[in-house]
Amino acid sequence: MKRLVAPSLLSADFLHLGQEMQWLNASADLLHLDVMDGTFVPNISFGFPVVEAVARVATIPLDVHLMIVQPERYVDRFAQAGAAMISFHLEAVLAEGGDPAAILRQIRSHGVKAGLAVNPDIPVEKLYPYLGEADFVLVMSVFAGFGGQSFILDTYERVRRVRDEIRRQGLSCSIEVDGGVSSANARQLAEAGVEMFVAGSAVFKASDPAAEIQAIRTK
Ligand code: DX5
Ligand code: ZN
Repeated sequence: MKRLVAPSLLSADFLHLGQEMQWLNASADLLHLDVMDGTFVPNISFGFPVVEAVARVATIPLDVHLMIVQPERYVDRFAQAGAAMISFHLEAVLAEGGDPAAILRQIRSHGVKAGLAVNPDIPVEKLYPYLGEADFVLVMSVFAGFGGQSFILDTYERVRRVRDEIRRQGLSCSIEVDGGVSSANARQLAEAGVEMFVAGSAVFKASDPAAEIQAIRTK
């Protein structure tokens, strides 16, 4: 399976986003945008103005990862802002008595790919009833909230279980991982069933970011 690399803008130089976008457009497959609300996660990142500005110059698809409560209030605006993919956290919606399937359909109604994300402490089985309505699953390999954390090894097994269930249900849902991903763990993740690799610090802190992206694709 072809590996797609999604550098996470959270690790970019925010004073020079225009320059960052030039090499990202040329080198990356997708661009991952982390939206945090300070409530679902203990951190605040960026919102519509940044996503809209990036969308004006991006030639690669934008992958918006919502780490927010009540994502149904905002998915329409992120779709209009130019997202090609939008994921939200299953546990955020279940905790507030919301309907994850309805939000997946809301995202898809814009022609945007719909993804369900889960933190490392959420049993992956909770995803299973919704896989049929999702275009992708985002298996977090760190706890959502901050870049630069260490990869949680349990992720390989969690990805394998999700992959097996997707096959069992005969679906074409793809798997993305996010957190501590680099060329050092990409092969093992790919073997477990990952297609989309989000990488923040591994790419942006590399002496040659484009080479690290290529290494995640091929190593
Ligand atoms: C964490 C974010 C990630 C983050 C990944 O909450 O969802 O997308 O930017 O950063 P690294 O690759 O540095 O772990
Ligand atoms: Zn993310």
